[in-house]
Amino acid sequence: MGLPAGLLDAGYTRLLRPVLFRACGGDPEAIHELMIRVLAGFGSAGPAAALTGLVAGSRGRRTTVAGIDFGSRVGLAAGLDKDATAVLAWRGLGFGFAELGTVTARAQPGNPRPRMFRLRDSKAVINRMGFNNPGAEAVAATLAARNVFRGNGVAGIPIGISIGKTKLVELADAVSDYLSSYRLLAPHADYVAVNVSSPNTPGLRSLQDGGALADLLGALVSEAATMAAESHPSVPERGPGRCGPMPIFVKVAPDLTWAQLDEVLATCADHGAAGLIATNTTLARDGLAASDQTRAAEAGGLSGAPLTRRAREVVGYVCEHTDLPVMGVGGVITAADAMALFDAGASLVQLYTGFIYGGPGLPAAVNALDVERQGS
Ligand SMILES: Cc1cc2nc3c(=O)[nH]c(=O)nc-3n(C[C@H](O)[C@H](O)[C@H](O)COP(=O)(O)O)c2cc1C
Repeated sequence: MGLPAGLLDAGYTRLLRPVLFRACGGDPEAIHELMIRVLAGFGSAGPAAALTGLVAGSRGRRTTVAGIDFGSRVGLAAGLDKDATAVLAWRGLGFGFAELGTVTARAQPGNPRPRMFRLRDSKAVINRMGFNNPGAEAVAATLAARNVFRGNGVAGIPIGISIGKTKLVELADAVSDYLSSYRLLAPHADYVAVNVSSPNTPGLRSLQDGGALADLLGALVSEAATMAAESHPSVPERGPGRCGPMPIFVKVAPDLTWAQLDEVLATCADHGAAGLIATNTTLARDGLAASDQTRAAEAGGLSGAPLTRRAREVVGYVCEHTDLPVMGVGGVITAADAMALFDAGASLVQLYTGFIYGGPGLPAAVNALDVERQGS
């Protein structure tokens, strides 16, 4: 049995968060890296497992989306575990699934530091990380070393992997770049997310345009069918063929117009997407506290509380205009924010910035409220 969400929340926000926010000279990325290194040591055995068991008692509402069985409806959003090293920790922290990455075909350093900024009074973050990651081959090796393969349940929860474009690759060559990542990572994922909505890789968001998205999605869906049809030689027993074609989700920006979203939805429906993830960070700077106005000038994508309303609006629009399942993400700071995304039609929710400000009490609270509402 895990600790109640309220106790976890108080323990994190009153005790741990003040220490974390001051640690490493207050550099958010440095403390992030340190926490990921700690979590990477968490496995399914030993004292770390007992620690994570404090939260693991928090189980949520079961659902099936795109043929995947989810034990709870709240997941970790992409970007927090970019290298996939902490893959075995997320279940223990109360998440029902985790989206790793974004991973690119080639290793790349991302943008110069500093590139991640806390806007504390606004419960927000601005980041311009730029897909820093060790590359698809290294991430596949990390997952293989932990025996995480599609459908084998070793992580205890479904695993999504987000793929993006290598910065140095021309937009015209994006399809083959995404395909390289896809082939390497699909054996380790229960679903793949196509990230065409990060604001921090020049030109990336243009891949949301109808023709470009059709080419990209068409190629990935056809590769998924091919890989499902043939037994994958590198993982004979556990390859993607075992569970049918890989579900492919498309992650969209909150800054699209309704007309642009209509085009994305039509392309997703016509080219075999399994669903949508809405939304990525925003380029807008609305809803910030006065004390955060200086930081607001930093370039990059804004996440957290200022995104809550827009993400809900976009999720509502998407759900009204497609039959595909939707993962809602953006500005989930309280359990009620997650319920609002469910009420807007989302089948699952994800969070990132809320976890920085709320810690493991937040997914636990989402799970508790989700179960409570199911019963009422
Ligand atoms: C520091 C940081 C890095 C991120 N990196 C990625 C990424 O690599 N891929 C991606 O799809 N989204 C990335 N995101 C966006 C989140 O997955 C999420 O869509 C967005 O932050 C809105 O959710 P939130 O308000 O719960 O944070 C990142 C967000 C932050 C704050």
